[in-house]
Amino acid sequence: MQKITIAIDGYSSTGKSTLAKRLAKALDYVYVDTGAMYRAVTLFALDQGLIGEKEDIPSLIAQLPTIDLKFVANKALGKSEMFMNGKNVEREIRTMYVSKYVSKVAAIEEVRHMLVKLQQEMGNKEKGIVMDGRDIGTVVFPNAELKFFMTASPNTRATRRYKELLDKGEQVSFEEVLENVQKRDFIDSTRDVSPLRKADDAIEFDNSDMGLDEQFERVHNYTLRVITERE
Ligand code: DC
Repeated sequence: MQKITIAIDGYSSTGKSTLAKRLAKALDYVYVDTGAMYRAVTLFALDQGLIGEKEDIPSLIAQLPTIDLKFVANKALGKSEMFMNGKNVEREIRTMYVSKYVSKVAAIEEVRHMLVKLQQEMGNKEKGIVMDGRDIGTVVFPNAELKFFMTASPNTRATRRYKELLDKGEQVSFEEVLENVQKRDFIDSTRDVSPLRKADDAIEFDNSDMGLDEQFERVHNYTLRVITERE
C-alpha cells in the first residue's frame, strides 16, 4: 500500500497525540509530536532564564542553533521520547511549568522557522508519517494527503488534562488547568505567525462526547478508505 502523510491539528488537549500515536501504530507509520519540540525549546528558554520572570527573546533567538532536538525510540515503553541536547526531557516538557510559557515561545517567528524546517525534513525523509500539532496541515505539510482537525469543548479538554496531570503527581487545580487551556488556545489562534486554524481541506472532528476507541475506529476506518481509494 502506498504510504501517505497524515496531519492532525487542533486545540490543546483534544487528544491529538493519543489518536495520532494509535493511528501511526495501526498503520505502521512514524509518529511525530511537534508540540514536544515547542515544549523542549521552551524548557531550554526556562533553564537559561530567557523566558519566565525575566525575558530575553533576542538571546533565545541567538541561542536557537545550539539546541539539538531528537526523538529517541524507547523500546521498553514502545514510544519515542524527546531528547534535548542529549538529555531525556520527556517528563519535564509535559509539566504545567512548561505549559505556562510554551505558547509564548511558539509565537516567536524564528522558533517556528527552525522547527517547521526540522519537521519538513522528517516528513520528507519518511513517507508514512502521522504528525500532530497546530500548523501541520496549513504550513508544514499543506499538501498532506489527509488532514484532521480536532476540537472539543474547553471543559472536556481541561478535565482530560487535569486527570493526566494528577496521574503524573502534579499539584494543580482544575481552574488553573482550564485557564491554561483557554489561554493557550487564544495565543495559538491569534498569533501573527502561522496561527492555529483549520485547513480548508481538513476534516473536523469534535470528540467532546466520543470515547477514545470510537474516535480511533472512525479515524482509522476513514484513513484506510482514503489509502485504498488512492491505489
Ligand atoms: O500539542 P501540545 O499541547 O504539546 O503543544 C504545546 C504548544 O506548542 C501549544 O500550545 C502550541 C505550540 N505548538 C505550535 O504552535 N505548533 C505546533 N505545530 C505544535 C505545538
